[in-house]
Amino acid sequence: MTGEMTEGKGPVIGVFDSGFGGLTVLRALLRRIPHAQYAFLGDTARLPYGSKSRRTIARYAAESAQFLVNEQGAEFLVIACNTASALALDAIQEAVPVPVLGVIEPGAASARAASRTGDALVIATDATVQSHAYAAACRARGLRALEKACPLLVPLVEEGWTQHPVTAEVFRIYLQELLQQAASEGMCPDTLVLGCTHYPLLRPLIAQAVPPEIRVIDSAEATAETAARLFATPVSKSGSHAGQIRCFATDSVEKFERLGSRFLEQPVGRVDLIDLGG
Ligand code: DGL
Repeated sequence: MTGEMTEGKGPVIGVFDSGFGGLTVLRALLRRIPHAQYAFLGDTARLPYGSKSRRTIARYAAESAQFLVNEQGAEFLVIACNTASALALDAIQEAVPVPVLGVIEPGAASARAASRTGDALVIATDATVQSHAYAAACRARGLRALEKACPLLVPLVEEGWTQHPVTAEVFRIYLQELLQQAASEGMCPDTLVLGCTHYPLLRPLIAQAVPPEIRVIDSAEATAETAARLFATPVSKSGSHAGQIRCFATDSVEKFERLGSRFLEQPVGRVDLIDLGG
């Protein structure tokens, strides 16, 4: 283990995303397990994962998970990336000897709990949608899910255009297409799952655009709740202090610090540049 993450403090939780979006999951984790020590890795050099093949995503995600466990001493891993959770959870579990939690199952469970009609909509990256991981997780809970890829939203969020009229119009078009398809399939959706780490930043814009009967589900919150149940160890006297965060990125540390604080809603602190290869 490197850095100041030492025994006697809270558990070391590794949080992984393809970029900064997973900081929305870390933000939710901080509220629920505040005494933990967090090692967050954003594989920013190889972002986006959402347009890549399963094989490539699995390789990138397994290497990232190994860094967090082998180099940072993570005792648990939260895969805060929907694309990696959808396509690489098995590969990650095989690559590291610690418990691994993805965002898909908590997101689907939360949609199940919220839905009265039994019909849900899911928006996500291309790769996540093509994997149909959300549809399968919803089906296992008796929920019908219609998934739609919204590939333009990630770059708009990365640009900081979370309240921009262009983003609102792009989302309106995606939503209209999705609602039309749902109607043509005889569905009555009352739930919309934000199946991508970047989308919680668009939540105000999304909430304004969706019909009032549709509830917006953030898998970041649902994942943090599950993590708190699975991973939170009792806070001992010696471990009752506030937790700490260390961030690692595979590309520009400066950009990570600047954009990351927007996702985390607080300064990300020190960010170290690491090299995981190509
Ligand atoms: N982190 C990805 C996800 O949640 C979005 C960004 C990407 O495509 O890498 O699906």
